[in-house]
Amino acid sequence: MAISRTLDRTSLLRLTEGMVALPTLPLVATRLLRAVAQPDTSPDEIARILSLDPSLTARTLRLANSEFYGFPRRVGSVDLAVVVLGANPIRDLALSASVFRTLGEADGLMEDVWQHSLAAGVAARILADRSRYRLSSEAYAAGLLHDIGTVVLRQTDPDRFQAVIAMVRDQGQTIDEAERGLFGSCHAEVGAWLAERWGLPADLVEAIACHHRPDKASRNPELAALVHVATSLAERAGFAWPRGVARRPIVPSAWDVVHADERKREALLESLVEDVVRETERERELFAEFRGSQED
Ligand SMILES: [Fe+2]
Ligand SMILES: [Fe+2]
Repeated sequence: MAISRTLDRTSLLRLTEGMVALPTLPLVATRLLRAVAQPDTSPDEIARILSLDPSLTARTLRLANSEFYGFPRRVGSVDLAVVVLGANPIRDLALSASVFRTLGEADGLMEDVWQHSLAAGVAARILADRSRYRLSSEAYAAGLLHDIGTVVLRQTDPDRFQAVIAMVRDQGQTIDEAERGLFGSCHAEVGAWLAERWGLPADLVEAIACHHRPDKASRNPELAALVHVATSLAERAGFAWPRGVARRPIVPSAWDVVHADERKREALLESLVEDVVRETERERELFAEFRGSQED
């Protein structure tokens, strides 16, 4: 495969601007993200936004009626579902459903990215709970979205993207080095650009931009570090992207988020692997049905 010309950043962004199939974050997910971030949003308001998306409404009702929540009677209305579930799981559901719509129906390569993303979201939530980070659902969202730029690069030029993966596998380059070499930009930068276009909160945009270099984050370094460590935890749990490539070391300053002694922190991450595997499986099942319910 001959990929001769390196794109520069400007032509890459110009190219992606013109893409017909640029991933879109459904309006409902964007609105839920914003609404849940406001402390004074009422359950009624959440229910109203949710009702705009029939497929998401169906998923929410199914979730509210699942054994996991153990509500004693059937949840038949969106209003009751919001009360039973709370706003955060609904926002997370909307967000993961949106990312799944973008990634989940693709071929094997994007399926790997989806599983890695889901596991990173779960891992970020587990780490956030452990480290008492104030918003574990924000950590989940950031983990879930951290590699979203990969979709853009792949869609922009699939052959060039294939060459990136080959360079990572055969020449031992990191994925961002290879992407910069062939695309003039990397998935973190492109992902942050996309997140900004989607109107996502600035902390999320920064966490996406800095997930490989959390030491560069200035706005919310804790979130960027959480996502960084979470992606490593996802890899330890068997959800690596790209698959079969040696794990990258954790940036030393990012370790602070796990609040553990230097000698114990590797063991601590290993002790969380089982939880990540179990919870990722559970969420995967939740979304496996989504393929069939997209036209609901
Ligand atoms: Fe990445
Ligand atoms: Fe990643």
